[in-house]
Amino acid sequence: MKKLIFTLLAVCSATLLTAQSTIKLPVPDKKGGKPLMWCLNNRVSLRTFSSKKLTNQQLSNLLWAAFGVNRSDGKRTAPSARNWQEIMIYAAMEQGLYLYDAKKHELTQVSEKDMRPEIGGQAFHVKAPVDLIFVADLDKMNCKPEEKSFYAGADTGFISQNVYLFCASEGMSTVVCGYIDRNKLSKAMQLPDSKKIIFAQPVGFPE
Ligand SMILES: Cc1cc2nc3c(=O)[nH]c(=O)nc-3n(C[C@H](O)[C@H](O)[C@H](O)COP(=O)(O)O)c2cc1C
Repeated sequence: MKKLIFTLLAVCSATLLTAQSTIKLPVPDKKGGKPLMWCLNNRVSLRTFSSKKLTNQQLSNLLWAAFGVNRSDGKRTAPSARNWQEIMIYAAMEQGLYLYDAKKHELTQVSEKDMRPEIGGQAFHVKAPVDLIFVADLDKMNCKPEEKSFYAGADTGFISQNVYLFCASEGMSTVVCGYIDRNKLSKAMQLPDSKKIIFAQPVGFPE
């Protein structure tokens, strides 16, 4: 009996942990948004953020637009050199750090810590409700070591532009940032040497 109760408790706590640690994103709305030419005309770097948070639907649409799966063969909304798909998107929010799983279209919590103050560089990172951190998984890149940062930077650029266009369409505020404290952030995120932070991109609503 004691053993049964213990097993039940273990199963319940594991279920609770999963429920807390994963954000199952709603199906992205692929029919919404403004016309592409309008979005290009309104694409802009904005650096003010109000305290308004994104809904899970907005988060879902944002991440899918950024680097979601858009074909049955697993390819994505942004290109990547030799289809390495080496750019990982972390979402830093007040309630913790999450990693975007594009295949499952969900956010897996990797830390309960608010990483936004660790990004450094500019003060607005702590104000934005979600800060995307683009990290290259160098192990996925089958090229000369000296070519890795070149390709990782280019591949991140396409994702970043998707975020810019999505934000233009939704009236959101965003700016891609290279001026960040990579060493401090990398330590806080406990990244191994094979995972390199490329850029951060806060997203929210203008003040
Ligand atoms: C690779 C890259 C890195 C950037 N880094 C920063 C940054 O650290 N901080 C910032 O405020 N803006 C940053 N920007 C945004 C540029 O300042 C901005 O794109 C430029 O001033 C042109 O403005 P626009 O994006 O509104 O056209 C960066 C842009 C790029 C492409």
